[in-house]
Parts: sequence; structure tokens; C-alpha cells
Amino acid sequence: MDQHEILLKLENIEKRFPGVVALKSISLEVRAGEVQVLLGENGAGKSTLMKILAGEHAPTGGEIVVGGRKVSALTPTLATELGIGLVHQELSLVPALSVAENILIGRMPRNAFGRINWGKAYEDARRALEALGVSIDPTAEVRTLEVAEQQLIEITRVLERGPRILLLDEPTSAVSDNERSRLFDVIRRLKQRGHGIIYISHHLSEIPMIADRVTVLRDGLVVETLPADEADEATVIRLMVGRRLEEQFPKETVELGAPVLAVENLASGRTLKDLSFTLRRGEILGIYGLMGAGQAEIANALFGLQAVKTGSIEVGGKRADFRHSSDAIAAGLGLISRDRRQSLVPMQPVGPNLSLSWLSGKSLLSRLDLTREREEGSRYISDLRIRPASTTHKLFFFSGGNQQKVILARWMSSGARILIFDEPTRGIDVGAKAEVFAVMSRLVSEGASILMISSELNELIGMADRVLVMRSGRLSAELPREEISQQNLLRYAS
Ligand SMILES: Nc1ncnc2c1ncn2[C@@H]1O[C@H](COP(=O)(O)OP(=O)(O)O)[C@@H](O)[C@H]1O
Ligand SMILES: [Mg+2]
Repeated sequence: MDQHEILLKLENIEKRFPGVVALKSISLEVRAGEVQVLLGENGAGKSTLMKILAGEHAPTGGEIVVGGRKVSALTPTLATELGIGLVHQELSLVPALSVAENILIGRMPRNAFGRINWGKAYEDARRALEALGVSIDPTAEVRTLEVAEQQLIEITRVLERGPRILLLDEPTSAVSDNERSRLFDVIRRLKQRGHGIIYISHHLSEIPMIADRVTVLRDGLVVETLPADEADEATVIRLMVGRRLEEQFPKETVELGAPVLAVENLASGRTLKDLSFTLRRGEILGIYGLMGAGQAEIANALFGLQAVKTGSIEVGGKRADFRHSSDAIAAGLGLISRDRRQSLVPMQPVGPNLSLSWLSGKSLLSRLDLTREREEGSRYISDLRIRPASTTHKLFFFSGGNQQKVILARWMSSGARILIFDEPTRGIDVGAKAEVFAVMSRLVSEGASILMISSELNELIGMADRVLVMRSGRLSAELPREEISQQNLLRYAS
């Protein structure tokens, strides 16, 4: 085996989505027998690049050389044929099917009459799982399993196909240390057999455990590829985050007032175990954690979307364990959720998208306030510079940044005093980000309070008065403004 054989080569790969350039120009190569760790802040383009290699997205520019072929795009079938296997960041299992069916999907063993040989299927699946040191019942339905187990099944499914080039997109975000070390054993074995591996991680501590080389992406570009022994944490963080913080973050100093929200010993959902904090009037309180640390569940619990198991939430001194989002809205909360599609009515223009927040809990008659819709629609369009500046275009045709402004406008018009921003800049470009930050700054200077859940280090450093760092469903640190740094955030989160 030639250790330096190049299995895969990317040349100037570009990927544009409507309104966002996810990858500007990516060139890299994967060699036989190497583990290349791919790093980058959220939104740097890592997952998009992996989906291009798996044939799920077509690049809008550049070339891919793999298996002696030069192509401008792969299809999922071609990628599989060429030996490329992707373990997705978001699980791609079919919840209603069994573990065995998920692992062997499309390749279930059949008997001479073409019927599925279930005995063999379960046995094959059991063996595949065992190779990872995992014991999960192959007959169980995937939907009944924990996230960590599902993640292991996803990994097993891809490994089962024996890919020559294995792509792992944050595969250890939910699994235990023990399962992770099993996975690393498997990766090392594949490496010795001459497979090439791209491993995406947010856990910088994994670099010395597994990496041969490290490639850092930032804003859709490769910043640098370096040997693992030169990739110490300080170097890597500097490469990931880049230049000094510029004027991207127009945060003004605001005098903080009395507590408006108090959370005590809150447990909710799968991960959130024991969380206490208060949010003050005029404050932007940041929440940071690695994927799955529980930060996403805070928003759901506060907004009445997910039950509170134990502990309490108080809004303005009153008990507020909301059962429905309408109760939360009535108490003056607003949620800008990480998935805009959940919050918008895409086939309607701006006006009706604003009025959603006034309507909850009111009678049908009061719903038809068309004049107010029209007036507020026009006001916010000019106030927040929403483009296109149209009260008639459906939101479907707006860019991500402009959709986000419409959601902001909704909560401004409803008079919400406590705003939960869950990944507020996901999928929007740099210009729109700065505008969203400007609105956040204005809202707090007018007396609102913001809980800013973000995985973007820069944004927290630029905007937050204080940051709570989460690890495994618990608070691991509370950083006052002067201590909010990349190093501290990453250190306490991992
Ligand atoms: N299907 C999509 N449509 C529009 N924008 C997308 C899509 N997928 C990713 N993006 C955007 O592309 C950029 C890169 O995202 P992603 O590849 O997921 O980054 P990473 O995995 O490094 O966090 C982000 O701005 C993201 O919002
Ligand atoms: Mg990703």
C-alpha cells in the first residue's frame, strides 16, 4: 500500500445556496492511511463539504478527483460506488424501522425465493454492531433508542459498507467516552488498512488522540492544513476564529436592571439536568455549549414547548412553567428559533407573519386586524430594512437574513420583553448578521432582555454581557463580560 496515495482531491470547490455562499473555494486532499481532522466554527462549511462528497449537494464550481475520475459533481450512487461513506451530523435513520433494517438498508439479505431472510439480517446487524463494541438489540425500532445509540447505528451502517473514504461529521457529539474510544479503535484499524478518513469534531482535545493532519475552514475557505503535532489548541483556535473582532458587533453598554427571569434547578428533556440562572432587564445573557450540551433545550423548556421535569421558572416574579407557547407569548416571551421554517408561514407576506404573535390565545374575531398588519408590515420593512421591501411578496422568496428580520419584527410588534434567540444568525450572511446584532443591541437598550443561545464564539464575545457555559446538561461556568474569550468558552465547554 502506498501511504501517500491520494484517494480524493478537491479543487476550488464552491457551493452557493440562495443568499449564502457556503463554500467559496475549497482545495484539499485525502491520503490513504490518514485521519484528517476538519475544524471550523459553526457555519464554516464543514457539513456542506461532506454532503458534496457524499453526492447529496452538487457544487456550483470546482472539481473532484476520486477513484481516477475527475467530476464536477457526484451523485449518492456514484459516491457509494467510489467507496465514499458519510456519517451525517444530523441522524439520517428511519425511526419506524428496526436497527437491522437501518444498518442494512437497501441490502437486506434474501433467501432463494426473494424473501427477506430476517434471521440472517438480525445476525448480520448484530455482528456489525459488535465490531464497534456495541450491544443494541437489532430487532428494536430505532425510534425507541437514545440519541447516542442512534448515532452508533448511523456509524455502523456506514462502516458496514466498508468505505475506502470515510467521512465522519461530528460523530461523537452524543456518545460516551467509552463508545468514543471504540470508534477511535475502528478508525485506527481502517487507517492501517489504507483507508482515508475525514473526521469533523468540535472537541479540540480529540486532535492528539486521532489526527494525522488538521485542516481548518473559515467562512467557506481553507485557512490552513497542518500536521497534527503542530495543531495545538491555541494555534487551532486562532485559525478557526481568525482576525480580531471587527465592528461586526455594535453592542452598546446598557445599564442592567432587576431580574426579569429566574430559573432554578431546571431539568427538562433528555439532557438538561440542573440549571439555575437569572436574566436581568437590559441584559444579553449568552449560553454556550458544544452540540447536545443541553443549551437547545433551554429555549424549548422556557417557551412551553417541552415539559419541565423538576425545578422552576419565574417570569417577573411569577411562576411560569408554561404548558403552551401561547402562555409564554402572553407572558411577554418571544422565541427566535434555530429553525426558521418552524416559525414562518412561507406562503404569506410580511403582515400575517407579524400578526401570528398577537393572535395566540385571542378569539377568532380579534384575529382579523388587517389594517394593523398592513401598517406594522410597512413600518418594520422600512425600520429593519427588510428586502424586498414588499408587503405582498411571500416570505418564501426572501433570503434567510430577511426572513430572520421578519421574525424579529414579529416579536418587536408583539411587545415581547424577554427574547430567546436560539442560534440567531444560522444560515444568514455576514451583512445580515451585523443588522441582526444591531437590532439586538437596540432592543436591550429599550429595556428588553435577551437570552442568546449561540455556538458562534465570536458572536458571544461581541454581544453578551455574561455567558453561561453548558456541559452535559449542566452549567460548567458563568463568565462575566471581561472573561468571555474563545479559550474560556472552549475550555469550559469541552
Ligand atoms: N441547505 C442549505 N440551504 C441554505 N444554506 C445552507 C444550507 N446548508 C448550509 N447552509 C449554510 O451554509 C453555511 C455553512 O453551513 P454548514 O456547512 O452546515 O457549516 P458547518 O457544518 O461548518 O457548521 C452556513 O451559512 C449555513 O447556514
Ligand atoms: Mg456541521
